[in-house]
Amino acid sequence: MEKTIEIKDLYKSFGSLDVLLGVNLDVYENENVVVLGRSGTGKSVLIKIIAGLLSPDLGQVKVFGQSVPDLDKKELNALRLKIGFSFQNSALYDSMTVRENLEFPLVRNIKNMTRAEIDKAVEEVIDGVGLKKTLDQMPSELSGGQRKRIGIARTLIMNPKIMLYDEPTAGLDPITCQEINELMNEVKERYRTSSIIITHDLTCAKETGDRVAVLFDGKFKYQGTFEEVFSNADPRIRSFYDYNFIESKLQD
Ligand SMILES: Nc1ncnc2c1ncn2[C@@H]1O[C@H](COP(=O)(O)OP(=O)(O)OP(=O)(O)O)[C@@H](O)[C@H]1O
Ligand SMILES: [Mg+2]
Repeated sequence: MEKTIEIKDLYKSFGSLDVLLGVNLDVYENENVVVLGRSGTGKSVLIKIIAGLLSPDLGQVKVFGQSVPDLDKKELNALRLKIGFSFQNSALYDSMTVRENLEFPLVRNIKNMTRAEIDKAVEEVIDGVGLKKTLDQMPSELSGGQRKRIGIARTLIMNPKIMLYDEPTAGLDPITCQEINELMNEVKERYRTSSIIITHDLTCAKETGDRVAVLFDGKFKYQGTFEEVFSNADPRIRSFYDYNFIESKLQD
């Protein structure tokens, strides 16, 4: 399998706040890597560095073999077209219909597409997320889970090779979470993407992660399958696990 993301000894601080202190991570084609870690540990910062939205202080960040911090503006824009970024508070444009939201990346980034080509691309991604009936609705008329799926569909319309999901199941009920988990697994199969899925939701981690990496003290101290990582005796891993499952039990 081809390596699409290669991170070596990555450091990032904001003033006196040290966030990433030697992060190493490789992500392969057709793989979902789940990133876990407490709030404020630098998970979102990490994927912003991968997408070239923030620059690292030190270390290597390669995407498709290219060093992201060394890319010029034009190269970075070309790279970003291959990256689907599902933001933590994934915003749809409220004044546009679902169809217009989905078309937006195409219209903005690709010149000379015909109406028929655009319609076909929209059709394909909306079918993929099973929400064809919502095409002419406004985002405000959709449920949280539907909005999330439309947000994912909007990134898929550009045929991404990498997907970066920032807390895709946050705030959703368990059944909707399950739908989003299935969608992320389908996306991996259909587009052969390399994905990084940031989550606090251990069910999501278990269902979607081919590998799981836990960010502690600015590093990935533990990486492996869900079972490998959570069979570790480190008390911080235990408490992370217990807290999540106890919390989800209390919510039932
Ligand atoms: N652009 C920025 N300027 C200054 N500080 C920042 C910036 N971006 C992030 N930080 C700080 O870096 C730390 C890590 O932030 P980050 O958003 O990556 O956390 P996180 O692990 O994603 O947390 P959460 O689970 O709550 O989303 C935080 O303390 C945050 O305040
Ligand atoms: Mg975050």
